[in-house]
Amino acid sequence: MRRRKKASERGECDEDGMDHHRSRRPFSGSHHRQSVYTRDRNDRKGRCDNSLLRPRNHHQWQSGSTPEQNPLTSQTLSTRKELYERDFPLYKQPVEVGCFSLDAQRRFFNDGRQMRYYVEPDKNPNFDLRDGYEDRYVKRDESVKEKLDHILRWILANRLKLKSKASSHALDFDFVTWRGHLTKLLTTPYETRDGWLLAVTKFKDTLYISEVETEAARRDRENRPEWNHKMMYWGYKFEQYMCADNAHGLPDSSGVVNTNEAFCTVVQTRLTDHKLLFSGEVDCRDKDPSVPPPACYVELKTSAEICTPKQRSNFHRFKLLKWWAQSFLPGVPRVVAGFRDRDGTVVSVDTFPIAKVSQLIKNEPNCWKPTVCMNFTCDFLSFLKRIATEDNPSVVYLVSWEPLKDVTYSVHRDSCFSFLPLWYVEAMGSCQDSHHQP
Ligand code: A3P
Ligand code: MG
Repeated sequence: MRRRKKASERGECDEDGMDHHRSRRPFSGSHHRQSVYTRDRNDRKGRCDNSLLRPRNHHQWQSGSTPEQNPLTSQTLSTRKELYERDFPLYKQPVEVGCFSLDAQRRFFNDGRQMRYYVEPDKNPNFDLRDGYEDRYVKRDESVKEKLDHILRWILANRLKLKSKASSHALDFDFVTWRGHLTKLLTTPYETRDGWLLAVTKFKDTLYISEVETEAARRDRENRPEWNHKMMYWGYKFEQYMCADNAHGLPDSSGVVNTNEAFCTVVQTRLTDHKLLFSGEVDCRDKDPSVPPPACYVELKTSAEICTPKQRSNFHRFKLLKWWAQSFLPGVPRVVAGFRDRDGTVVSVDTFPIAKVSQLIKNEPNCWKPTVCMNFTCDFLSFLKRIATEDNPSVVYLVSWEPLKDVTYSVHRDSCFSFLPLWYVEAMGSCQDSHHQP
């Protein structure tokens, strides 16, 4: 039974009825640590409606950000790519610190039982990606928002090896999040269509970042046309054709595609002075047991056949940006792509080493630059450290962005945006207590 994909990373998160698009307005004279949202306590949990983000209730700090803005004091952050064209920032080689699995019922396991193995395909494979859509497809319920829960479960199960030496920290990380949320940040300076909304909570000196589904994304998800559902399935079906359940096995394309199932790597790394812990779903690994993770991992993708120079240019400018950002972050060294015809048959397979992507795009005019992606993300994380100052598991800094605008934020106390579960807060509390004991 296989398999879901990186949905928890896609920002398909909670909260309906939000109207943050209309909530922006310049605002001055407020202090960002004050809570701007007060409601009846009984009404706080489990309900977020449009009124929450109407301008009346939603203070924003949008102090006329320009290229000359002072990044150390501004309450907004510009996403203009020109501002981030500087030397590539230090990004430490990501190290896998663990992994976890989600089974066919989406249950968490603190192990790698869902790992799959890459099987080299024929040169002209002829995979029919439509096969099984009607009768062998179990689709994860995308309306269920898991937030950071699986990562938090993994942290609790592995907290001894993550314990910080500094007594004030429960974890020795500045940020905990999904890789997919970071991928969205990396691509933000080049994104022209989809905005995002990130909930950020500071707890025991670590900033947790969890995506909230924008109203536009929710509308798109709920009104997805049938052809789109079908094409989503094609990506998962390709994985089934390319993977075996064990190192010596072969793919079984007669099985069920179950998108609840996932194998996730947990990596630690550092972007300049930001210590990061994040998790991302991994499609499969190389069979060779001598290659350690994450170098053994393989990302699988599908894409439309490239027949014209225009199609090649678009592939370089848009697809490769997303592919590069997603795999570069956890140190996955290669993407194996299946190119499909209009009917959903994979007609060729090609490997894209992540380290060679910048060479591939270098002759493309007005193309994206890895350094812009990384510098923006680095500055964004610095921005979060600057604004999210109150260490409180029930306070959420809601950070939002829409194309052509600056990043802005609002503060919410005990609201429906709070995402750190009580079981995590309590367990980490007792974790620190025991840490303090002689
Ligand atoms: P493709 O990758 O072939 O497009 P991933 O590539 O991240 O491993 O995701 C596996 C599949 O999940 C994708 O296959 C695609 O079918 C589906 N998928 C991933 N992200 C998606 C998104 N933002 N919208 C729709 N489908 C998505
Ligand atoms: Mg994939």
